[in-house]
Amino acid sequence: MAFANDIIHWYEAHGRDLPWRNTSDPYHIWLSEIILQQTRVEQGMSYYLRFVKEFPTVNDLAHSTEERVLKCWQGLGYYSRARNLHAAAQHIAFNLSGQFPNTYDDILSLRGVGPYTAAAIASFAFGLPYPVIDGNVFRVVSRLHGIDLPIDSTKARPYFLQVLNKMIDRDRPAAFNQALMDFGALVCKPQAADCKSCIFADRCVAWRTGRVALLPVKGGRPAVRNRYFYYFVFVIRRSRKSFPIYTVMQCRKQQDIWKGLYEFPLLEPPNVLVADDLLNTATTHVQKLWPMMREVRPSIVGTDVHKLSHQTIHATFLRVEAIIDDDVQIDGLVELAKVDALPVSRLTDRFLATFSFGDTNGLVKCK
Ligand code: ADE
Repeated sequence: MAFANDIIHWYEAHGRDLPWRNTSDPYHIWLSEIILQQTRVEQGMSYYLRFVKEFPTVNDLAHSTEERVLKCWQGLGYYSRARNLHAAAQHIAFNLSGQFPNTYDDILSLRGVGPYTAAAIASFAFGLPYPVIDGNVFRVVSRLHGIDLPIDSTKARPYFLQVLNKMIDRDRPAAFNQALMDFGALVCKPQAADCKSCIFADRCVAWRTGRVALLPVKGGRPAVRNRYFYYFVFVIRRSRKSFPIYTVMQCRKQQDIWKGLYEFPLLEPPNVLVADDLLNTATTHVQKLWPMMREVRPSIVGTDVHKLSHQTIHATFLRVEAIIDDDVQIDGLVELAKVDALPVSRLTDRFLATFSFGDTNGLVKCK
């Protein structure tokens, strides 16, 4: 237990004071852990505070609309996390009488909760002795014991779990787990590890064998896929001038990125479109899908590159002016003034922040 004692001692003096550590409310801890998956602490902090304020209890979250939850999540990415959070809150509120599950297996059965998150909630909220294994923990343990098993291999988690089960302080699992995470974040960092001031240097296999920079080992990264998105940013007027000006926003429904978020109508060809042909292709596409639109005039108003973990989106935004008759209805037609209330991806949000719908006859401005 020497290691556990020493790292908890270090943690008491140097650990980070984070808002989700001043509570043992499993709902708040769960919120923080879902937010912090694939998100840095600095970025996650404001989202955590917003969620706790907006949805103080699991019942509040359960009774919200999914759209409201996604709007609060906007900008964090990996939106399935937010949808799972909402579905799991409804399960707890409506099927479990609002009682948060209090065993590892029951926590693990919640939607969107994997072994890491279940161990975090079980230990932080209920003091159960389950080791957490995140990137920080993999790094500290790989270096300390000189383990060169690739941490993204299927064997890694069971193997590290075995090692950690021997290391964990069974009386203080929460402090032990948080201590390892913070030690990885603050001292045993990915690059520029602070080995000179490390209290474990004399027993660290990586330090003693000159392998700090080589551990942890990672296997090959999967290839990044390029995708080409052409967005149609409609500016639609009706024949009669007294009507508001509209655009079209569609909700992504398919099993793909950004499910549940809104975006401008999208053309996604398998390959990049040649710039010279783009405006003709756009006009033909609009006439085919929306034959009720007249005087269709597309122009290119922006490009952006948006990187996700396994794909890069090359986006082109086309402003498309059009006229429709007064009684025509179009799926997704939305007044410009209402666009801001819709949950959108960070890519679309970035575009909307810089784009002006321009001459709107003084009727409505989006931003
Ligand atoms: N990353 C994920 N969970 C965390 C936590 N509880 N504290 C700090 N960083 C984290």
